[in-house]
Amino acid sequence: MTDPDPDGLAARLRTQLADELEDTGRLRSAAWRAAVTTVPREVFVPEFFRRSDGPQGTMWTPAAPGTGSADVWLEEVYADETLVTQLDGHVHPNDVDGPVGGEPTSSSTLPGLVVRMLEDLDPKDAARVLEIGTGTGYSTALMCHRLGSDNVTSIEYDPAAAARARTAITTAGYTPRLIRGDGLQGDPEGAPYDHLIATCSVRTIPSAWLRQVKPGGTILTTVSGWLYGSGLVRLTVKEDGTAEGRFLPGTVSFMIARPQAAPGLGDFSGLLRQPAEERSARHGPEVFRDWIPLFLAQLAAPGAQDLTTRVAGGPKLVHAIDVRDGSFATLTPDDSGDGFLVRQGGPVRLWDNIEAAVDAWRAAGSPPQTAFTLTVTPNGQRVQLDTEGGPTWDLPT
Ligand SMILES: C[S@@+](CC[C@H](N)C(=O)[O-])C[C@H]1O[C@@H](n2cnc3c(N)ncnc32)[C@H](O)[C@@H]1O
Repeated sequence: MTDPDPDGLAARLRTQLADELEDTGRLRSAAWRAAVTTVPREVFVPEFFRRSDGPQGTMWTPAAPGTGSADVWLEEVYADETLVTQLDGHVHPNDVDGPVGGEPTSSSTLPGLVVRMLEDLDPKDAARVLEIGTGTGYSTALMCHRLGSDNVTSIEYDPAAAARARTAITTAGYTPRLIRGDGLQGDPEGAPYDHLIATCSVRTIPSAWLRQVKPGGTILTTVSGWLYGSGLVRLTVKEDGTAEGRFLPGTVSFMIARPQAAPGLGDFSGLLRQPAEERSARHGPEVFRDWIPLFLAQLAAPGAQDLTTRVAGGPKLVHAIDVRDGSFATLTPDDSGDGFLVRQGGPVRLWDNIEAAVDAWRAAGSPPQTAFTLTVTPNGQRVQLDTEGGPTWDLPT
């Protein structure tokens, strides 16, 4: 068999990556270090898309060992970067010759985040873990190295990604249980698990996850939604089948679980012309740019999506729209140029709810995301700002 790393470059880059992740505090244990310095990431990303942002928006250019210097390619593979491997649910790098547009639908998450999450999950030797979102299989392989393949199950929704991951995981010498299916249903046959880790985000914690993780076990996932506000939460499952936990630090986001993707906006122009109330806004579009305000907006308007429009020669208009019930809010710069007017219509005053959430957080002293908790019971899923009488928000059902 030919040596896949004849001059030892990949091995050196793995050590370098492990050092970098250790220096920045994301890699914290010898056991996960051994996984990072062993698992060959290049096997999991034999091709990927390079991102570039220009006048036409974000474009993606295929990258593979044959498309430039092999050393440069390998250095990119071992950079602490997310490598996008699929666009729009079906376009792979070897399907295209040059730059293309599209929405990422599968990727190898940046190693620093994968490792940080594995450290947060903290499975003990031989713990059984269910992973949702196999993607390229790199994180699956890290877990196989640490826990033994027999203790790892991973579920991938996308058939093409699942097939590629299977090939890569096998090539790297691991044999976990791999399932092509909807991770929101979990894996009833393999349950109960000690831990569940999701590398796609969810709007609501699936009830199957609670049933399939042992009491005392943990669920580590990002909670997000159609505004892309996001938070990483670690839940502990209790004897009575409920779960509770705190949001963790860091700006962690993942692509949303496919069955929970946002509905299409369709032609919303008629909706925005509906009768509406107008007032001065206390908060403007910066809510959608700042991490915790966006998380709060997500909690306060879980069915909303945001978009920006511009009429020729006019100012940018920022909208929040819930296409399911026809609620909308439009922010327009006011005459002073410093503030915004908000125009709201439909059954729910989306911007009133978003502003109330941001105001409550500010009144509590603008605490970090770790001040929020999530409680999941059969009757609902509730995020609470963990201050005296702090406000609560229900995740969508
Ligand atoms: C960020 S990628 C996963 C990265 C992966 N852990 C790695 O290291 O390469 C997210 C993956 O979740 C998958 N996904 C989305 N919804 C899913 C679902 N309901 N069940 C299982 N996988 C899902 C996507 O197809 C995508 O491949």
